[in-house]
Amino acid sequence: MRTLAAAAAMLALAVAAAAQIQRNGEAFSSTPTVERERYDTRVFMAPLMLTDAQLNGRRIVAQRCANCHAGNPRQPGPPLGKPIVDNRGEAFIRDKIATGSVLMPGFQYTLQPVQIDDIIAFLKTYTPPPRSAAAGDE
Ligand code: HEC
Repeated sequence: MRTLAAAAAMLALAVAAAAQIQRNGEAFSSTPTVERERYDTRVFMAPLMLTDAQLNGRRIVAQRCANCHAGNPRQPGPPLGKPIVDNRGEAFIRDKIATGSVLMPGFQYTLQPVQIDDIIAFLKTYTPPPRSAAAGDE
């Protein structure tokens, strides 16, 4: 009985020690990690050809929408851009932005109608990459 308890205690110690080594290994790892980001140089280098309204729309989308709609597969919203405006029509998009849904906040009290116009003006200039190839997808 005594040896059994001692063995159990030893085992517990060994497990704790192993966990400790693992934690230390992580904390003090000196192996650098490299994260690769693939991007299309032509898109990257192209001059911006957006109007003030479109630029303003892009800024609002980056601030208010991209956390759910940037095309990352872990995000709840579909990638936004020209295809969605073409498929759904501007009236639907305007209404969706204003009232939202169970899964999306409505912006009727926090965005002016002209800001919603700017969002749509920007979305019509933008074709999002397919979800699987979007930024943040590892
Ligand atoms: C908290 C996350 C969240 C934020 C922030 C958000 N959305 Fe959404 N949105 C969603 C989700 C989830 C859906 C899909 C479910 C639905 O249609 O309600 C959606 C759907 C949409 C749709 C309809 C797509 C379709 O084809 O049915 C549009 C358009 C849209 N969002 C635009 C926007 C715009 C523009 C903004 C910023 C002003 C925004 N969303 C901010 C989560 C969000």
